[in-house]
Amino acid sequence: MKPACSYAATHAASLADPAAFWLAQAQQLQWDTPPGEALFQDANGFYRWFKKGTLNTSFLCLDFHVQHGRGQQPALIYDSPVTNTQRTYTYGELLEMTARFAGGLRELGVALGDRVIIYMPNLPEAVVAMLACARIGAVHSVVFGGFAPHELAVRIDDAQPRVIVCASGGMEFDRIVAYKPLVEEAMAQATHQPAHVVVLQRDFVTAKMQPGRDVDYQELLQAEPVAAVPVPATHTLYILYTSGTTGRPKGVVRDHGGHAVALRFSMKAVYGLAPGDTMFAGSDIGWAVGHSYIVYGPLLQGCTSVLFEGKPVRTPDAGTFWRLVAQHKVQVMFTAPTAIRAIKKEDSEGLLARQYDLSSLRQLFLAGERCDPATYTWAGQLLGVPVVDHWWQTESGWPMLATMVGLEGMPPPRAGSAGFPVPGYNVQILDEEGAPVPAGVTGLVAVKLPLPPGCLPTLWNDDVRFREGYLKPFPGYYFSGDGGYRDTDGYCYIMGRVDDVINVAGHRLSTGEMEEILAAHPAVAECAVLGIADALRGQVPIGLVVLKDGQTIGEEAVEQELVSRVRTLIGALACFRSVLVVKRLPKTRSGKILRKTLRQLADGEGFAIPSTIDDPLILDEISAAFRRRAIGAAFEKAG
Ligand code: COA
Ligand code: AMP
Repeated sequence: MKPACSYAATHAASLADPAAFWLAQAQQLQWDTPPGEALFQDANGFYRWFKKGTLNTSFLCLDFHVQHGRGQQPALIYDSPVTNTQRTYTYGELLEMTARFAGGLRELGVALGDRVIIYMPNLPEAVVAMLACARIGAVHSVVFGGFAPHELAVRIDDAQPRVIVCASGGMEFDRIVAYKPLVEEAMAQATHQPAHVVVLQRDFVTAKMQPGRDVDYQELLQAEPVAAVPVPATHTLYILYTSGTTGRPKGVVRDHGGHAVALRFSMKAVYGLAPGDTMFAGSDIGWAVGHSYIVYGPLLQGCTSVLFEGKPVRTPDAGTFWRLVAQHKVQVMFTAPTAIRAIKKEDSEGLLARQYDLSSLRQLFLAGERCDPATYTWAGQLLGVPVVDHWWQTESGWPMLATMVGLEGMPPPRAGSAGFPVPGYNVQILDEEGAPVPAGVTGLVAVKLPLPPGCLPTLWNDDVRFREGYLKPFPGYYFSGDGGYRDTDGYCYIMGRVDDVINVAGHRLSTGEMEEILAAHPAVAECAVLGIADALRGQVPIGLVVLKDGQTIGEEAVEQELVSRVRTLIGALACFRSVLVVKRLPKTRSGKILRKTLRQLADGEGFAIPSTIDDPLILDEISAAFRRRAIGAAFEKAG
């Protein structure tokens, strides 16, 4: 095996000459037309990678490996305790299914560049649908199954898909979630109407089909297989919607070429995985982690990926992740800190973990939210392997900070830190004016342009929002929306969002969107939604509302109505469960609601009363409201 390269030299080379660095990485993939050059700027000034090259991601994930002797190797292990099913798909089988499903999509009129929405739980058929879209140059957009019809409708109208692929249903702990009625409801709300809905019928729930429009998934699998179509490297592979600061989600665009180059690099450099190794990412294909490290990363690298349909607990117990590791001989596991906290809550002594042979496991990677040191330490002691907290976003699609196990000379991971900049990322901590801050000082986390391959080149149909949201705050940089600092040893710490985005159980949600929903209630004059600390989920949202003059509706009734509105419009995953009615909201003299101060108040963090506050007494009133309802870490104890 080739010796690993040093982190310092690799990172320095990636920043000194990004084009040369990434061109060398690109040469390790099979191109239909080699890219020749690496880096370009388009008419907007946005960076694009490998514009002159052509290739196909589905080919690289499947055909390439079959042609190179991996046809019999497991590509995907589907493990579903909720349906008591386990199935293994070799690279050969996955290729066959994908090529046929791609043929079926073509028969439905899906052409190059057409969009296909996939609304399914973690199922092999969903992975096949993703790879089939890629195969014919169609653009998939997977929507997380926990989103309510309204959210699906917004995505249908933005992506304008020709086809929706859905399952008849999914399984949540103890209840069946029928997906097809949710799709029907979303289509009733949407203006754009897809031509077809492809339905995977599952044993435990049968979807009603609409003749002419709806097609059985299994029928499409009987179509004639089609070959992968070479597409320009800059061709869109997928759109993945993520929460921004308003009710309109942002369609993060991912391309074929840069994405394949970056993910393949990350599999080796960040995760230390070689072809034939096994990775288990305990996430959902509806999130970026699922796209990159359940589907594309492992398959591009010729690894085996474990696709898990279940939860870290109660499916059937808090040992389920450890059973997966032991049974499938997982080398690298990846999940969100929330999942570890959920396991710790139910099996604090780690007795279940001890029932399994976990000797295959080399590292546990964590991301999706800040990992508190207690969870980090508990996991490390339980597993006896390095726990690697690493930082990334839907926008980047792969890690920006990490302790890379495939590179030499990395300092060991440190609790609370997400590590060091990954090659390709020039991560800087800036002050409000855009000047770098000294070590130890908290600032705003930005990445100097150009971003490496794999990161979003723009937002779907919205170059303006891309520029305004990410590039304009600090010219020459991509602004992440996170706050953090670097210590004197160079370790970076991501402390949380500085905008109206929160992370609830590793799910990224917009408090701005929740405020829009609350504000639309006829009794509400104004409102604020905050993400407050939660021991299990990291953060949960709470609402503060001021009622219009003359309203007689009681606090309990208004709370119930608002909670139910958020659940109906966004989904249960928002975990929006508490609303406080207050007389006023604290504001600056210019009228800006002091959300950060409110959050600090609830969390019991020390804070200085902002000098710009128009009436400091409001904070006392709100403290009393928090105490009365025992809401917030500071008041739960007191209450
Ligand atoms: N379909 C339908 N409903 C869903 C859903 C889905 N795919 N996902 C979540 N929900 C619902 C849940 O059923 C729950 O409903 P309820 O309010 O009626 O109980 C609600 O949304 C909240 O879900 P969640 O916060 O996930 O709570 P939970 O109790 O079901 O599970 C955890 C808690 C910690 C086990 C779970 O959140 C988890 O595994 N988190 C890790 C997430 C992760 O991996 N993120 C990816 C980033 S790496
Ligand atoms: P998402 O786009 O859903 O992956 O969410 C991205 C956001 O999650 C980031 O902007 C951070 O706020 C947060 N996040 C992800 N990974 C980490 C981490 N390792 N440490 C702290 N925050 C993280």
